[in-house]
Amino acid sequence: MQAKLIDGKAVSAALREQLKEEVAALAEDGITPGLAVVIVGDDPASKVYVRNKKKACEELGLHSEEYALPAETTQEELLALVDKLNKKPDIDGILVQLPLPAHLDEKAVIEAISPDKDVDAFSAVNVGKIMIGDYKFLPCTPAGIMELIKSTGIEVKGRECVVVGRSNIVGKPMAMLLLHQHGTVTICHSRTADLPSVTRRADILVVAVGRAKFVTADMVKPGAVVIDVGMNRDENGKLCGDVDFAEVAEVAGAITPVPGGVGPMTITMLMRNTITAAKK
Ligand code: GUN
Repeated sequence: MQAKLIDGKAVSAALREQLKEEVAALAEDGITPGLAVVIVGDDPASKVYVRNKKKACEELGLHSEEYALPAETTQEELLALVDKLNKKPDIDGILVQLPLPAHLDEKAVIEAISPDKDVDAFSAVNVGKIMIGDYKFLPCTPAGIMELIKSTGIEVKGRECVVVGRSNIVGKPMAMLLLHQHGTVTICHSRTADLPSVTRRADILVVAVGRAKFVTADMVKPGAVVIDVGMNRDENGKLCGDVDFAEVAEVAGAITPVPGGVGPMTITMLMRNTITAAKK
């Protein structure tokens, strides 16, 4: 392996120390940031995420409230809870854990969250604000990736940045954040013609396609920074990313591992958004 490992756990831990100081400063003004996490049903992966979010709040000294609703919860009941949380003064951030059970309208629920408390930055208003570069919250995964890129010491300005994947949660906002930092940005995806010829242009390559080991060494420019957002299981049931780590690490200049790369950053960014929301 020749690439430098981008250690998401270490970058995340350093950021959490800074956030603790911000929480302490707010405490002097009598402010405790508060996060409400809503989970509907009993998806095991969602339960783990929610538990980790609660633990992070405890570690940083944030107030947190968990609302675990049964799978049969109706749209009206869920919207009533969101409305209550929108008005609750000790709650600065609201996160409704996705995916929701199929009978619920996710889009309507997201739009019901007050934009000032939408710490995921998923609502149309907050997405629009990101587009015009006038935002309060950044979506957690792309924001965490920007911090990881920063930690490599490589400047985005003027570089070829290629984002593989076009989801509303990662690919699209990721491209926008790189653009704000003056990168030359290409978004590509599974239907891009001759994808390797596009990814090989990248000085900074962000991969969020949801396919195990999709990006191979021949798709990567020597020395590139490679950020792997994937979280998959390989043929042996082992956790792996969207990048074939073993072979790409021989070509890249820096690379995130899975696990231990992007994953540890997202909850830290959620904490940062909640603290930002409390500073209003
Ligand atoms: N489910 C998986 N990741 C996320 C996330 O970042 N936010 C929400 N609300 N749900 C998720």
